[in-house]
Amino acid sequence: MAARPVLNTYASRFSRWDDLASVRRRPRRHLVDRADLYFPPELYPVVSHPIVVARGPAVVRTLLLHRLYDYLHFTTELENLAVIPVAAKIARGTSGLLLPRQMQADAFKIVTDEAWHAQFSYDFTQELEHVTGVPRGGGGIPVFTQRLDEIVALFPREIAGLEALVFAIVSETLISGILSEIPRDERLPRPVRDLVRDHAEDEGRHHVYFRSVLRHLWPALTLRERRAVGPHVPAIIQAFLIPDHGQVATRLASVGLSAEEIVQVVTECWPEHELMGPIAESAAPAVRYFTEVGALDDSRTRCAFVEAGLLADDAGSDIGRSKQLTDGVSRTPRDSNAPRSTTT
Ligand SMILES: [Fe+2]
Ligand SMILES: [Fe+2]
Repeated sequence: MAARPVLNTYASRFSRWDDLASVRRRPRRHLVDRADLYFPPELYPVVSHPIVVARGPAVVRTLLLHRLYDYLHFTTELENLAVIPVAAKIARGTSGLLLPRQMQADAFKIVTDEAWHAQFSYDFTQELEHVTGVPRGGGGIPVFTQRLDEIVALFPREIAGLEALVFAIVSETLISGILSEIPRDERLPRPVRDLVRDHAEDEGRHHVYFRSVLRHLWPALTLRERRAVGPHVPAIIQAFLIPDHGQVATRLASVGLSAEEIVQVVTECWPEHELMGPIAESAAPAVRYFTEVGALDDSRTRCAFVEAGLLADDAGSDIGRSKQLTDGVSRTPRDSNAPRSTTT
């Protein structure tokens, strides 16, 4: 990407980091007692499907515990694979972007925050296993990694390397229902709520930061680079937000559902026409930021956003009308975990 003058539009949200960051100010969250409910059933619709309900409350409890395991694992993977490497490059001045010095300095704090999120998610998983006696088992690798690999394969060679920056910008500016809803769900154990709240508060600062990264990145790209990257942004958004149906299928199989039942449960719980609304809602801030920087001035990019159901088209039709969202069930998060607070 071409070098451009440094934009002086950065207002740091990290000046009080020592007083606010969870890694500096919050205690370790420890799970001591067993609970009946570990994850909000409303955020995991399969547990309300009649086929699952008929298996009894113990199966529902297990599935919700597994859902928490999968969320924690997703967090650890996302931080380590998508965010920390990019923030570390920005901190070291090797991202390819010319950024204000304060922005570079703040990236070190983001690396520290995200490493802490990954660590406490991992540690908490071990405590959960110990307290509940239920092993995490094989939830598999979160599907976003495979989806992102597929998108990278479509990138033209001249923009190779840019994808990591765009992935991080997208994932850090999406809004996650888990981060916003779990902290206030009084049915859940206090340590679970506190752990997610700690994360959500840090992510509020990251969200603002990565919006600023986008404001620096986009003008630094050539027109050709913008046209090459822009049409892929909707797929990147979807890579993080379309539910991980493969993981759900694995979990349902582990409690004894047949392949046929799994397809029925997944299909009926996430009908395609209902999937778009929450995804568009979670992506709304990110879509606005890409619009603000002019990414959607390119007609192919704009078209891709409309096709993906992330933007109303010029004729004013509703968001969410086309584009298939299946990827097999075998269809299968910064949250497949779909939607409201930033994802990691
Ligand atoms: Fe973050
Ligand atoms: Fe995070």
